[in-house]
Amino acid sequence: MKEPLVLGIESSCDETGVGIVRGTTLLANTVSTSMDEHVRFGGVIPEIASRAHLDAMVPTLTEALATAGVTLEDVDALAVTSGPGLAGALMVGVCAAKALAVATGKPLYAINHLVAHVGVGLLDDGVYGGALPEDLGALLVSGGHTEILRVRNIASDVELLGSTIDDAAGEAYDKVARLLGLAYPGGPAIDRLAKEGDPRAFRFPRGLTQPKYMGSPEAPGPHRYDWSFSGLKTAVARCVEQHDAAGKPVPVADIAASFQEAVVDVVTSKAILACREHGLRNLLLGGGVAANSRLRELTAERCAAAGISLAVPPFSLCTDNGAMVAALAARVIMDGRSPSELSFAPDSSLP
Ligand code: KG4
Ligand code: ZN
Repeated sequence: MKEPLVLGIESSCDETGVGIVRGTTLLANTVSTSMDEHVRFGGVIPEIASRAHLDAMVPTLTEALATAGVTLEDVDALAVTSGPGLAGALMVGVCAAKALAVATGKPLYAINHLVAHVGVGLLDDGVYGGALPEDLGALLVSGGHTEILRVRNIASDVELLGSTIDDAAGEAYDKVARLLGLAYPGGPAIDRLAKEGDPRAFRFPRGLTQPKYMGSPEAPGPHRYDWSFSGLKTAVARCVEQHDAAGKPVPVADIAASFQEAVVDVVTSKAILACREHGLRNLLLGGGVAANSRLRELTAERCAAAGISLAVPPFSLCTDNGAMVAALAARVIMDGRSPSELSFAPDSSLP
């Protein structure tokens, strides 16, 4: 089968993305973000994100086609994120994709956003050179998700090994940044500030690491590979309050560094535990928090110690984008899967 030319649309959160691939070759990856419109609220406002997708969809599509040097007629198939994500935001991408499918008669593939994050590993961008390794784990850390996946076959067999039971790691960064008086998005601000602080100044909690949550390797406990960040956020809030109540200046850099160390320590330790216990010798890092300097450093260090080979895609492919949707759809098409029925609905809590 010839390599299909696939156009993928992503709109699950605040990025409107259109990516175009030919098989495993990336031709365009155009992204428009509504991040600036959410800044004054300190987090993504779903209604604003949905409206921004409406405004950005056609310009993003037009730019991606121009960058790839193709027309809609040239495209073999369309793909779109159908979930998980914000319901209204997903709806804009799904409606756009269905409209294109009806207007052009091209087949449409509904794609799972989380699996698509792993799909970037299919591209010939040097991470894996177009084919995923067999024993692959994927650590996805963003404002919306914190997950460790086992990928046996990206088109048909992806297992969720662990996830956050409350806030996503990026969400914890954003909430703690607000407590420290830093602007949204908090991740990059804390990452910068932490470099001036002492990560050992405060010992903040590592959620779900006490023995009662860890089960055993033979029968992994319900929370062995899961995370919780709400207790950590509360501990930071209490620390700030105690300094305020005592009339002492809040040591923001030390708090930022200690908070970051707690997040990165527990994220990497549980992900590597899951990889080791499932014989996964490769780990792909994805999501916006993959930009974090300390997360990259400690993951690399601990992977090396555990004999796990770590791959970190370029940042433009770590954050939400359309190329990952198109790349996964191209793989699914080459595996011979039928297109989705046009009656499918977006599913904000797609497993
Ligand atoms: O993947 P992404 O762009 O959007 C989704 O959440 O799906 O990730 C955004 C998240 C935000 O929570 C932001 O604070 C976090 O990624 N982030 C970071 C860094 N850069 C972005 N977190 C920690 N350190 C960073 N350098
Ligand atoms: Zn994402």
